[in-house]
Amino acid sequence: MRNKKIKKGFDQLSLIYDWISRLIFGRQLIVAQDYFTDRIKEGSSILIVGGGTGKSLSAIFKHHSLSKITFLDISSGMLAKAKEHVIKYHGELFGKIRFIEGTYEHLPKTETYNVIITPFFLDCLDDKVLGDTLTVLHGRLENNGQWLFTDFNVPPKPVFIKWFSKGIILLFYSFFNIFCKLGIFRLPEFSKHFSRLFDQPQETHYFLRGLLVTQLYIKSAPLKSQVYK
Ligand SMILES: C[S@@+](CC[C@H](N)C(=O)[O-])C[C@H]1O[C@@H](n2cnc3c(N)ncnc32)[C@H](O)[C@@H]1O
Repeated sequence: MRNKKIKKGFDQLSLIYDWISRLIFGRQLIVAQDYFTDRIKEGSSILIVGGGTGKSLSAIFKHHSLSKITFLDISSGMLAKAKEHVIKYHGELFGKIRFIEGTYEHLPKTETYNVIITPFFLDCLDDKVLGDTLTVLHGRLENNGQWLFTDFNVPPKPVFIKWFSKGIILLFYSFFNIFCKLGIFRLPEFSKHFSRLFDQPQETHYFLRGLLVTQLYIKSAPLKSQVYK
């Protein structure tokens, strides 16, 4: 039921999403989610979850025209926009991308990936769903695989920036709640869930005074003693 409302909301928003994001944040959301794409290794199989209108595909193609890409999004409206974007700017690569409508539960059952990208997607999930989603996706990431996480963030200081960021995020959730009925009003605890599954992020970069964060996580291979247990 919750997912149906989210899907319906993002279907409606797909018509104005890029326009609004550009009006409020300029190019910063795109710059943030593209920041680590040049670190993706050649020939990787890539899973993008919640890729929206598909703008981040351009940055991936810039470095990796031959990558295998699975583009997963719950919203058919967003997927239609993403397909339009690829056809318009990268027509020859259209056949290389598999578009899947749905959640992680709709991914082919045994498939694993070298790279998982979650660009401004995990903020749509409450703490419980976030925990489940990260656990399942982590299981789909190959050992030594890369996870590119980008989302909103509350910088701890200075105090003025901290409260200003909280205000912006509250406004942003109020807007999305009107359309998508997310039922969330503050960011889930991303780092708590990532630290359960990964060592420290290999790199972190902030944008807009810390309001946006992007992090590169690497899945470490299990120790030999764990493998043979
Ligand atoms: C805030 S938008 C971000 C879109 C894009 N990454 C960007 O920054 O332009 C979140 C995206 O996640 C998708 N989404 C929300 N919940 C989802 C879920 N459970 N599974 C897959 N996609 C989901 C929405 O349809 C939407 O396209």
